[in-house]
Formats: sequence, structure tokens, C-alpha cells
Amino acid sequence: MWWWILAPAANCPTRVNFSVITLPSVNFAALNFEAYYGSRCGFGNKKSSKTGYLNHDIGIGLLSPVSSLARLCIACDRINFFSNVLSLILGITAITTMTELQIHRNYGPLAAGNKLSQFHEVPSTHSTASTVSISQVPKAEDVASILLNTSQPKDGELQQLFAENIAAKLWRVAQRDLKDNDPPTAYPEIVPQEGSQQGRYELREASFWTCGFFPGSLYTLLERETRYPGSQGYPLPRKTLLALCRAWAEPLHAMATRTDTHDIGFIVEPALRLDWELTGNRRSLQSIVTAAYSLATRYVAPSGAIRSWDLIRKKDVSIISMEENNIVIIDSLCNLDLLFYASAYTKDTTLATIARTHAHTMLTSHLRLESGIAASITGYSGPIYSTCHVANIDPKTGAIKQRLTAQGYATDSTWARGQAWAILGYAQTYMWTKERIFLDAACGLTEYFLRRLGPGYNVPPWDFDAPVENPEKPVFDSSASSIAANGMMILSEALVADGQLAIAENFRIAAIDVVKGLLRGALAEEKARFVVDGSQKGSENDTLEIEDVLAGSTFDGILKNGTANNNVGANRRYANHGLVYGDYYLLQFGNRLLRMGLI
Ligand SMILES: *[C@@H]1O[C@H](CO)[C@@H](O)[C@H](O)[C@H]1NC(C)=O
Ligand SMILES: *[C@@H]1O[C@H](CO)[C@@H](O)[C@H](O)[C@H]1NC(C)=O
Ligand SMILES: *[C@@H]1O[C@H](CO)[C@@H](O)[C@H](O)[C@H]1NC(C)=O
Repeated sequence: MWWWILAPAANCPTRVNFSVITLPSVNFAALNFEAYYGSRCGFGNKKSSKTGYLNHDIGIGLLSPVSSLARLCIACDRINFFSNVLSLILGITAITTMTELQIHRNYGPLAAGNKLSQFHEVPSTHSTASTVSISQVPKAEDVASILLNTSQPKDGELQQLFAENIAAKLWRVAQRDLKDNDPPTAYPEIVPQEGSQQGRYELREASFWTCGFFPGSLYTLLERETRYPGSQGYPLPRKTLLALCRAWAEPLHAMATRTDTHDIGFIVEPALRLDWELTGNRRSLQSIVTAAYSLATRYVAPSGAIRSWDLIRKKDVSIISMEENNIVIIDSLCNLDLLFYASAYTKDTTLATIARTHAHTMLTSHLRLESGIAASITGYSGPIYSTCHVANIDPKTGAIKQRLTAQGYATDSTWARGQAWAILGYAQTYMWTKERIFLDAACGLTEYFLRRLGPGYNVPPWDFDAPVENPEKPVFDSSASSIAANGMMILSEALVADGQLAIAENFRIAAIDVVKGLLRGALAEEKARFVVDGSQKGSENDTLEIEDVLAGSTFDGILKNGTANNNVGANRRYANHGLVYGDYYLLQFGNRLLRMGLI
């Protein structure tokens, strides 16, 4: 083994990077070694600076078997040749020692503190662009015709995604449920369609996996107000809106260090990513990066998969040993975006490698090849796939021990939301990796979803294969269509880039039709509106009052007919209600239409 030592990338007090590259004949898979010597500079985390150098913050990451790159980064807080040399010696000694050890992953969320220092925001002080001189200023009388042409016919059905009803409902819940709950310890989850709580959001403990969606929906409104002013037909006071967004998002930051859940992507991304992107709040980016490292701790390298659940304990199944089992669920595909995003900022390819590996593993563990007797709906002619919900993978060998369902009807059935998670997750994964296998998977999953949904694209059943128990009250899951439609829209963009224009158009049309089916079948008829007189509308920091359009007819959710869990052995079986993530993905779809200029 031999080393190449690259010159320091920068001088102290910024971090000094030495790259040490191990070349061939390394007899362990690969390692990503980072030693932080005195981490007071940059974004060094406090915990490590307390305990001195070469402490537990030395993260050893097991990279994919293809990579044989090891890096040694030494951070210091002042130029000190001897300390650098000392660190280097210590570092190399450590690496050498490790070649003799069985190397284990040691990616704590604490490591995240330092990772972001690799991302530099460079203020563009010396732009090379020449000054643009506007020679032809439009004459005042011409300006009117340049403004938005409001007489353009609009798609009336899709306009419902931007109606006052949407913002009014979210605003009402945001204001009302923050009372005695600020900072929030409970978050909106479902809106019962019957019973004493009918029409009103049930709040659920903040640690539950759905906590990020309500703040995410508020940020979706903020994005509309910020990037697409006028898209909602009436102005919202942005300052108040941002304050509501921030209040609901606040507890999510502390959750970023959680390593007890794979749902950390669902928890932090919807709100904090938009907070970073719309407002430049660096704390939100840091929380996203921290969360990604937290998720990475759950990666079980020999099984090529991130652990979704530590255990399953329900009425009919009990899998409890983490040594013997790695339980991976289909939903996990939608938490990979977090890893890719953080990887792009930190330049730590380990995160992206973990995500890619997990996505590859799930092609085998969760996708079922279906024979396509029916004609293709989108024109996509490749293989089509259904999905199972849960696979139990051997954590030591990667062998698939068992497939089962937790939230669907049966092992071999297709749980509608699971199929939707797979469509969206593989569409996102393709966009990050551009690996064709993921594009094909996502297209094949979409084809299957659409064929099962059938003509008319009505509200999907909760499970495509479940028998209807009560014909008077069939169980639907509107959230499956909200989620799938977002995936299909991403795919339509991917297919345009891939030059498959006809199929791309069919995916786009299908996505829109699926959402229209949802609006026809599941949009709550109970509507809300703002109570504001014209003069107040749009003033910067109003507290807004909301009322039901039809007095006494209240439904906090935007969509009905969602189903959190209808599995017969579930610890809690609840179906046919408003669902916070059904609404979140519906609003996201609206923003996609805006971004694509389709509305
Ligand atoms: C606005 O749109 C309508 C309907 O498409 C069209 O007839 C009209 O000419 C447009 N007006 C301008 C100023 O472009
Ligand atoms: C959705 O729920 C409402 C209220 O329970 C019900 O009237 C309606 O039929 C349901 N929609 C579908 C598509 O079943
Ligand atoms: C709006 O906010 C500003 C600054 O916080 C405050 O001075 C002003 O009183 C507020 N106006 C209303 C109507 O609350």
C-alpha cells in the first residue's frame, strides 16, 4: 500500500485538507477516513473540540466496494507545521492499524457538523458579466399588454389547487393549533370524516413520522407567494406566513440528530429544504445535513440497505432481533432524496453511495415483475412492476429472508401508497443518479399503478388487491394518487431530457388526470375562506381570520378519503379520513405545475 499526499487545500484558520489516496491492493473494501485535529475552525462541532484531536469524531465510513478512495482531512485552527505533521502521523498510524481490523461504519450525526464546511458560499464580488444596458425602455402605454394575460382560459379543475380555500384551511390550522402548542409538541395527522372530532385535525405526538408534512405544506404556500406571486389570486401576508412556517418547523431542527427513525427525510425535508432555499437560512441546511448523517447511521453495509424499522410488533407478526433482521419498507425510497441532497452540498459521496446502494437493493427485494397483458397506457413498453411493502433482509449476508406487509392487505397484494412511494422514490433517485435502471423501474411502476387505477383515474383503493369488506363504505387512499402524481411529473421531465417526447407527454397528461380524478373524487366539499376586507388584504403582518364558506360546515383537510393504515393486524386501524401527507403532496403537485409553466 502506498500513499499520495496532496498539498493542503487551504491555509489555516480555514480547514486544511490533505488528501491521502490509497491505491490498489487494499484488502478491505474501502474506507473514508477523516481525522479532525482541533475542530475549532470552520464548522467544527463543539463536542469534538472538547475531547481533543483524533477523538470519536474520526469517522470511518464504509464506502461502496467500488471505491478505494480514502481521505484524510486535517482541520486546524492555526498554522502549525508540527501539529499538522503530528496529525498526519497519527492519521496514517490509525489508517494502517485499521487495515488489520474489521472496519465498521462509524457515521454519527455529530460528524455532520464538519461536513458542511466543504460547501462554500462564494459571494460573487467580481462578476465577469458585462453591464446590461437597457436601451429600449417600454413606453408606459405598452406595459399593460406585457402584464399577465388574465383572460387566458385557465384549467378550471386545476385552479382548485390554488383556490383561496387551500390557503385558508392551512392558515386556520396553523394559527389555531399553535395556541397552547408553541413550540409544537403535537402535529396534525388525520381529519376524521365522522365521530366527535369530525372535520377537525387530530394532532399527534411530535415524534411521529408525519410531523414534517404540515410545516411542509405551509412552506409550499410560502413558495407560491415568493416565487409565483399572484398564483393564488390573492396576496398572503408573507411576514406572518413565514412566522407561522418557522414556528411549526422549529422542533424539526432538534430532530435532525435522531437515529431511531429512517423517516428523518420525511421529517426534515418538506419544511427545512424550502426554508433554506427560499430564505437562505443556513441553520436549516445544517439540519438537513445532520439528518442525512443520522440516516446514514442506519445503513447496514452487508445487506446493502438502510434499516427502516428496528422491529415489527403487531398483532400477527413479531420480528424483534436487529442482529438477525434488517426490516426495509417501500416508503424508505422517499427518504433517499435527503441523502442525495446532503451529499451534493457536503461533497461526501458516501451519503449518495448509501442511497444508491439502497435503491439498487430494493429493486430485488421489493419490486415484483408483472406480466403485462393489458395494453400500455403511457406508451411505455418496458417491464412493469408491482411492489410488496416490507422485506426482511439478512443483515449479515443480504439474503432476502422474508417478504410481508405491514400496512397493505397481504404479502402479495399491492398496497396503493406503497406503489406510489416507489414511483416517487425511484423518479427522484433517477434524477440524482441518472442511472437508467431507476428510470425504467419508475416507469414500470407507474404503468402498473395506472393500469390498476383503471380508466377515469378515480380515487385509488387503499390496496389494489384487497377485497371490499363493506360495499357501503369502500376504503380508499387518496394520498396514493397525490404521491404518485408527483413521481409521474418528475418522470415526464426525465423523459423529455431523455428524448422520449411522446411518452413524456403521456406521463404528464396521466399525472394531471390522476390529480383531476382526485379533485373530483376526494376534494372536501366543505370550503373555507379568509375574512378580510379589501384594505387589509395583503398588509404585511395581519393575523388573518378564517371562516367556513357554509357556516358550520368544517373540514380541516383539503382531501378526504385517505387511509393511514387499514391492515387487519394493525395496532391502530384507521381509514377514510383526511391525511396530512395526502394534502402536502397535492400542494406540491400544484407547485410543480407552476414551476413547469403548466398553469
Ligand atoms: C389574451 O388571451 C386571450 C385568450 O387566449 C387572447 O384572445 C388575447 O388575444 C390575449 N391578449 C393578449 C394581449 O395577448
Ligand atoms: C370520500 O368520502 C366521502 C365522505 O365520506 C364520500 O361521500 C365519498 O363517496 C368518498 N369518495 C369516494 C371516491 O369514495
Ligand atoms: C407589524 O409588525 C411591525 C413590526 O414587527 C409592528 O411594528 C406593527 O405594529 C405590526 N402591525 C400590526 C398591524 O400588527
